[in-house]
Amino acid sequence: MKSSEIRKAFIDYFKRNGHTHVASSSLIPENDPTLLFANAGMNQFKNTFLGLENRDYTRAVTAQKCVRAGGKHNDLENVGFTARHHTFFEMLGNFSFGDYFKKDAIHFAWEFLTKDLKIPKEKLYVTVHISDDEAADIWHNQEGIPRERIFRFDKDNFWKMGDTGPCGPCTEIFYDHGPKAGTIDDPYKGIAAGEDRFVEIWNLVFMQYFENPPGTLTPLPKPSVDTGGGLERMTAAMQGVFNNYDTDLFKPMIDLACKIGGLQYISDKEVLAKNPAAAEITSALRVLADHCRSTSFLIADGALPSNEGRGYVLRRIMRRAIRYGRKLSADKSFLPGMAEALIESMGDIYPELKTRRDHILNTIRDEEDRFLSTLDNGTHILMDELKKAKAQGQKTLSGELVFRMYDTYGFPADLTRVIANEQGIEVNEEEFEKQMEDNRNKSKASWKGKALGADEQHIIKIGKDYAGAGKKVVFTGYDTFIDDAKIEVLSDGHKVVTSLKQDETGLIILDRTTLYGEGGGQAGDQGYILAGTSRARVVNTTKIDDVIIHHVQIEHGEFKTGAAVTTGVDPVERRNTAANHSATHLLHAALRKVLGTHVTQAGSLVDSQKTRFDFTHNKPLSSEEIKKIEDMVNEQIALGNPVKAEVMSHKEAIAKGAMALFGEKYGDQVRVLTMGDFSTELCGGTHVTNTSQIRMFKIVSEAGVSAGVRRVEAITGDGAVRYAMNAIAHFDEALAAAGFQKSPHYLKHLETTGETATLANRLEAMKDQVKNLEKEIKKLQGGQVNVDDLAAKAQSFKTKSGGAGKLVLADLPLDDRQVLSEVTDHLKNKIQSGVVVVVGQGDQSHPIIVSVSKDLTGDVKAGDLLKEVAALMGGKGGGRPDFAQGAAPDRGQLNAAFTKVRSQLGV
Ligand code: ALA
Repeated sequence: MKSSEIRKAFIDYFKRNGHTHVASSSLIPENDPTLLFANAGMNQFKNTFLGLENRDYTRAVTAQKCVRAGGKHNDLENVGFTARHHTFFEMLGNFSFGDYFKKDAIHFAWEFLTKDLKIPKEKLYVTVHISDDEAADIWHNQEGIPRERIFRFDKDNFWKMGDTGPCGPCTEIFYDHGPKAGTIDDPYKGIAAGEDRFVEIWNLVFMQYFENPPGTLTPLPKPSVDTGGGLERMTAAMQGVFNNYDTDLFKPMIDLACKIGGLQYISDKEVLAKNPAAAEITSALRVLADHCRSTSFLIADGALPSNEGRGYVLRRIMRRAIRYGRKLSADKSFLPGMAEALIESMGDIYPELKTRRDHILNTIRDEEDRFLSTLDNGTHILMDELKKAKAQGQKTLSGELVFRMYDTYGFPADLTRVIANEQGIEVNEEEFEKQMEDNRNKSKASWKGKALGADEQHIIKIGKDYAGAGKKVVFTGYDTFIDDAKIEVLSDGHKVVTSLKQDETGLIILDRTTLYGEGGGQAGDQGYILAGTSRARVVNTTKIDDVIIHHVQIEHGEFKTGAAVTTGVDPVERRNTAANHSATHLLHAALRKVLGTHVTQAGSLVDSQKTRFDFTHNKPLSSEEIKKIEDMVNEQIALGNPVKAEVMSHKEAIAKGAMALFGEKYGDQVRVLTMGDFSTELCGGTHVTNTSQIRMFKIVSEAGVSAGVRRVEAITGDGAVRYAMNAIAHFDEALAAAGFQKSPHYLKHLETTGETATLANRLEAMKDQVKNLEKEIKKLQGGQVNVDDLAAKAQSFKTKSGGAGKLVLADLPLDDRQVLSEVTDHLKNKIQSGVVVVVGQGDQSHPIIVSVSKDLTGDVKAGDLLKEVAALMGGKGGGRPDFAQGAAPDRGQLNAAFTKVRSQLGV
């Protein structure tokens, strides 16, 4: 059975059994800084399990994209070297939200595996939690599994989402790959030891309890079910292969890499054991095949390689793959071609791969180029350091160097570690960790500024605790600016407190608020929280798991937990943020219309000052394109179309042609924003109610941010009007200075006469005039010098050939070299055969010119003579035998210099 058939069979089976098929959520979780990437099917249903979010179904089925990279259970270094470690995998899952429980969950799983997939029962074992007699009985009585095939474990069979929240015992299904796959034959011992022969292919979690505070379990009123099975593992079982990499999920990429590198992929364990060179090739191919999947899917979901956070994890994965590619071939590039093979093979199931194809490939190529040059530079430096260390008999490499390799040369630490280990040198991990920690603190410190000294971890914790306690914050600010609320949590920024007093800063969570919490690329609102005469200024808001946290400064009075308050949004800030956000949607649509539908959003930041929009496009925008886009958006503003927000299912939204943006939840109910028939997007932000409220749109900058990604910054609303008024004021000033009337008359004049004598023309004309005048002045200056008189005063000297040469020494009050050299030429023409020395007069330094007629360059070289004159006057210069120039500061030595010239020529 093909992997695509298994995925489809799973979804079809559960659809048949009353489940709603929900699309995979993005790999990039929204508003959850503690979760690096989506890592389980249940992520997108977290709030539904908690009862915070209601959906119009109680049964769901998904194939969820997951990335687990780094962290305790998935050391990146293992990937490619084991049969089942992956950075990217698909989790097949069925979910019950207070609907069916253990009996049905077990029955569905067993029926699907043994009937639909036809896996022989004797290949399967199950485990249950040590306390879960109920599940064990269901397996035995309902499904007829012999008791000796049901094993009990403690921690391994209890699953929790985090320290607090819903959790429960689980039952796992194991597939036996047979005696050849391992060394332990006893299934209980094999499973307990994590023996490769027995592979967990499905985990059914019975969400039965609620944990809060940590360690205290209370039964949930509506027990639920969360299951997850790795498609890669199920496929390996179904295709009769032991290693996940030998399934059709990885084959297209491995085949392509073999073609590129002229290589052979060997997977037979026995052959590989005897042939280390082949084993190395196989592992490298597996690393590349795995990493190419996580890389492509992450980029498709909006991640970009960078040096921090999610981008850094992506960069590490990509660089590891590129390095293994280099091991396979010194000069061939593997990743881009393999990514194309992946897009080809999975693009129908995950269309985002197809839509963002060019962006994925450009990003990979660019990172490959960057890394290869970094790798070359860094490798040299590292090898030098390792040589030094070895020569000095050192066994460890300093953590400082490892950090520098990372920070300056983009060398991931694990890469430095691998290279050092290859040379028999260890890395000082403790020192390295310390450097990293210092670095993290540095970046934390810069973040703190924004959050009024509140500690980032603490902010996340109070948000998570609040959500974990099954509570939510209602955002009421779409339609109203002022609303009543109650204080739920107070914090001084470091710990939870019961009151905040005048002049203190802190954090406040309310049961409801009109202030928008930073999220979806939109900055948080600013405003006020009032209680009687007490007043807190809200300087920022953050959103953790849909919990809006206000960062406050208490301006007057006191705030206590439980108090009734009123929230108010700063209307001007809100008005401008809304204008910028709505304009962003118009800009997105206009970009696609002007540049093409390959344009997709790659990030955005909207606040009251501006909108910053990143999008995929691989060349700079021309001024015509920018103008077209501005005109198109301003046209939409002029049309005054109503802006409508509607909540509907994701499917309906896509059917309406809504553009799904990066970082958006696209699990279930979504908010769809339409502006006439020009723009339809999924968006949770705050917007104007009519496009005319945007007032005006102006692009102020356009630049590249990374491979294939451009960034446009634009202003609207008050900002754009201020900008325009300012520009007009400056324009009027310039018009007045150039002798024109003020802009209204000037523009009217141009319009009615069709004249082209614009301000720019006049300025150009003025520039020409100035240039001409300068020329004129120089001519006049040169003309003032009495060349005849100077020539008449020339002194004679005897040349080597016995002829007579003439020497002119001129001291002129002019600074311009061009004028001085013209005068020199004149003098030389007058005397015909001889030497001319001209010294001008500047502010600090004085120009010197020496000219020798061609016939006498054998007697005296202009360059040599100039050097002497200049040196005497404290300067220098040089030139050809017949013409030389220089400059010198000391005019006091002029006479001495002239005397020297005379004596040299024997005058
Ligand atoms: N959420 C469960 C897991 O990740 C199914 O294993």
